[in-house]
Amino acid sequence: QTNLLTLADGQQMPQEGFGLYKVTGQSIISSAVASAYQAGYRLFDTAQLYKNEAEVGQALTDLHVPREKLFVTTKVAEENQGYQRTITAVKDSLHKLQLDYVNLLMIHWPIERAFFDSWAALEELKKQGLTKSIGVSNFQVIHLQYLATQAAEMPVVNQVERHPRLNQAPLVKFDQDHHIITQAWSPLGRGTILDNPTLKAIGDHHHKSAAQVVLRWHLQSSVAFIPKSVHEARIKQNMAIYDFQLSDQEMDQINQLNNFHRTGKEPALVYEYNKKW
Ligand code: A2P
Repeated sequence: QTNLLTLADGQQMPQEGFGLYKVTGQSIISSAVASAYQAGYRLFDTAQLYKNEAEVGQALTDLHVPREKLFVTTKVAEENQGYQRTITAVKDSLHKLQLDYVNLLMIHWPIERAFFDSWAALEELKKQGLTKSIGVSNFQVIHLQYLATQAAEMPVVNQVERHPRLNQAPLVKFDQDHHIITQAWSPLGRGTILDNPTLKAIGDHHHKSAAQVVLRWHLQSSVAFIPKSVHEARIKQNMAIYDFQLSDQEMDQINQLNNFHRTGKEPALVYEYNKKW
């Protein structure tokens, strides 16, 4: 089972979680969530954008485990940003998830118009106990700096695309310096990096797969990460990374695979912010 990280607000978050992006259909979600829970995953990451909160909620309910055992994350979609829209959308998410609160609520993408209003809504939802922690997703340094000019409290997590081809070293450092946990989405680069010869060679040396090497690299980089799979064997394999260690040299070799390759969209460097700065 994975480590627990202590967030800046005092809450504890599992370092490894289960990603549910692009996982759809009640039976697939139910079996993936059940396999993941059995394999030791406690963090389940969904979003309004994924359109699967109701199915994820049903799958979690069907586990019949105490609420404290679960760490549930969702994110406010771009279309729901703004103060009142965020409040309404999050209440709808909670209804779909069949939960009284989520553990972590994030702004999914930085949007210039609604930036501060959406964040103020998250602060209010936290006060009301509808979420334990608040964070952001896909924020670059400039967005965090801009947020800091008005926020009453800062995000405790920043979930961004991160994998060996996009290791995000400067952002991870900035987050660390500001007590923000970086959480990697698409930690396996959506599976596209797993035939890389360097990763395979390191895996052979440890009798592990390339996927396990990459996840271990995230672990030893002190970031959180949320691999996704719909196959039970892979779901288990992705948790079996706590019985080996990468050397400093192997960590360096993986860090050198960075080539700024994004699988997702580039978070907009909002022009309005640039003008103000
Ligand atoms: P599948 O769901 O068919 O198992 P990421 O988490 O970076 O977005 O990557 C998810 C992709 O990687 C999915 O396509 C998933 O496929 C695949 N994947 C997840 N775990 C493994 C693994 N251990 N070995 C190979 N492919 C994997």
